[in-house]
Amino acid sequence: MRKKVTVVGAGNVGASCAVRIADKELADVVLVDILEGVPQGKGLDILESGPVEGYDVSVTGANNYEPTANSDIVVITAGFPRKPGMSRDDLLLANYEIVRAASEQAVKYSPNCILILVTNPLDAMCWTAHQVSKFSKNRVIGMAGVLDTARYRTFIAEELQVSVENVNALVLGGHGDTMVPLVRYTNISGIPLSELLEQAVIDRIVQRTRDGGAEIVKYLKTGSAYYAPSAATVEMVEAILKDKKKVLPCAAYLEGEYGINGLFVGVPVKLGARGIEKVYTIKLTAEEQAALQKSAASVRELVDVIKTKMGS
Ligand code: LAC
Repeated sequence: MRKKVTVVGAGNVGASCAVRIADKELADVVLVDILEGVPQGKGLDILESGPVEGYDVSVTGANNYEPTANSDIVVITAGFPRKPGMSRDDLLLANYEIVRAASEQAVKYSPNCILILVTNPLDAMCWTAHQVSKFSKNRVIGMAGVLDTARYRTFIAEELQVSVENVNALVLGGHGDTMVPLVRYTNISGIPLSELLEQAVIDRIVQRTRDGGAEIVKYLKTGSAYYAPSAATVEMVEAILKDKKKVLPCAAYLEGEYGINGLFVGVPVKLGARGIEKVYTIKLTAEEQAALQKSAASVRELVDVIKTKMGS
């Protein structure tokens, strides 16, 4: 029997995820959105690409969650995107309501699924979904590190004029301005990055990575990135469905790792059929550890706002 993936939110990120899942023939896809006709229309449009692309998965759309029943994975992309000048954090309360409702419905129909969160502010939305679903921590995962690392790898490959596939790297921390690209753990087919680029150039690339989402928002004006975000999301979906045990940076619920407790923050994890099968704790310098703590503190600020709202 084919696997089943629900994608909540039929906007640019959600629809692009559905296309990529179908293209890779990973699973049947159900697109869910509150907008009448949009998930149905986009779903049918993607389905009708099947004969040309050569995939045999079903792609459907719905305005409710009944058709999502027994999904293996539910990807939550629903929410407001950023506009120029906005930070991801500006979306907090509006998207909290959306993610809370989506998580509630999704887990009601798919109590055994794995949840992948994409909506911003990412780490706080993971916390929300974890809270609402009451799922064990291995089954709630945030997509951010794969995207941030993809941007970082792109800029490095461009600078060095080498294949993107040769750039191995890791961006940790929250999905925000304080994310932590780990230069010391970056290498080009085993050659440390610091052997190949001047510190000033590395610093510029690190900053461009931190501003990577905003750079796209500035161009698009009416929304945020979706091609790279959907590619990153579907790499995670594939790792889980195929039990690949891929080591990827993802937002994971930490209970003491890296000195962080009760928060979702981006760290290296092993992704397989059980979701997050391991959180890797790697040695950090005092400076790297401080940067990660700073990033975690900014995630905590947002979660505290949500907690206050939940209590009121
Ligand atoms: C980005 C948004 C989607 O990084 O967070 O592009």
